Amino acid sequence: MQGLLHDKVAIITGAGSGVGRAAALLFAEHGAKVVAADIDHEAVEAVAGEVVKAGGSAIAVECNVTDMAAVDAMVRAAVDAYGRLDVMYNNAGITTQPGQTFMDATDADMQKLTAVNLGGVLHGCQSAIRQFEAQGGGGAIVITASVAGLIGFGGVLYGSSKGAVTSLTRGLALEVAPRGIRVNSVCPAAMPTNFGGGVLKASEAARQHTAGYHPLGRVIAPEECASAALFLASDLASNITGVNLPVDGGLSAGKPMSR
Ligand SMILES: NC(=O)c1ccc[n+]([C@@H]2O[C@H](COP(=O)([O-])OP(=O)(O)OC[C@H]3O[C@@H](n4cnc5c(N)ncnc54)[C@H](O)[C@@H]3O)[C@@H](O)[C@H]2O)c1
Repeated sequence: MQGLLHDKVAIITGAGSGVGRAAALLFAEHGAKVVAADIDHEAVEAVAGEVVKAGGSAIAVECNVTDMAAVDAMVRAAVDAYGRLDVMYNNAGITTQPGQTFMDATDADMQKLTAVNLGGVLHGCQSAIRQFEAQGGGGAIVITASVAGLIGFGGVLYGSSKGAVTSLTRGLALEVAPRGIRVNSVCPAAMPTNFGGGVLKASEAARQHTAGYHPLGRVIAPEECASAALFLASDLASNITGVNLPVDGGLSAGKPMSR
């Protein structure tokens, strides 16, 4: 059986760690030619190396998604290496310091978070759509939003940036649908990655405590988020657009009556 992304060219931002790394390995396993991009050059070189070692195809690109020129250069690098672009996975994101409240946030915190979590996605979408249109239309955009973009969870500043992204997903899906371009997001709950200082990755106690918020009773593996992104990027989702898909163990479904 051919993979779900057989011969498709896929850019993944934030591919040096966590969900992005898991997606790079999974997309390549499914036949994609992967452009693994990250602000952390060493990390993303290592991930591209892992993909190639596993028999896949990947290049590493250093890219700060807050910089539109760098994002355009990333898309050009994909086209130079593989001739086209089929999938743009805008996954890079950051959060605030653990425990930081909205009223603790400085203006610099607000600017930085918004520049990466919203600005980086806006840049990635615009640059990819230009390339999709130059190819004659078609193409899939996937975004890593968050359950914090669907319900109040995980901090006000972070949640507001992800809420903007879930709104962007719906609005942009409508705008580009006539050109056959699909736009969807995955909305994960808590995952043990390097995110937010890597607290969940480092501490079993923190994982157990956080698991309690999820009706299915455990935190989300980055591979589970990458699987949902693979589905949305692939032709299995060929008539799905404008969807913000929770990967949250039931967290956004509501509060159980007894537990
Ligand atoms: N881990 C969680 O609990 C959680 C929950 C919900 C949503 N998310 C979202 O998942 C996505 C992936 O996060 P993760 O959990 O894998 O975290 P992670 O910290 O393990 O990985 C994020 C990657 O993004 C890169 N990055 C950061 N800023 C960048 C920039 N300006 N340009 C390019 N790359 C940049 C980092 O270098 C890192 O490699 C993020 O969008 C995050 O908001 C994470």
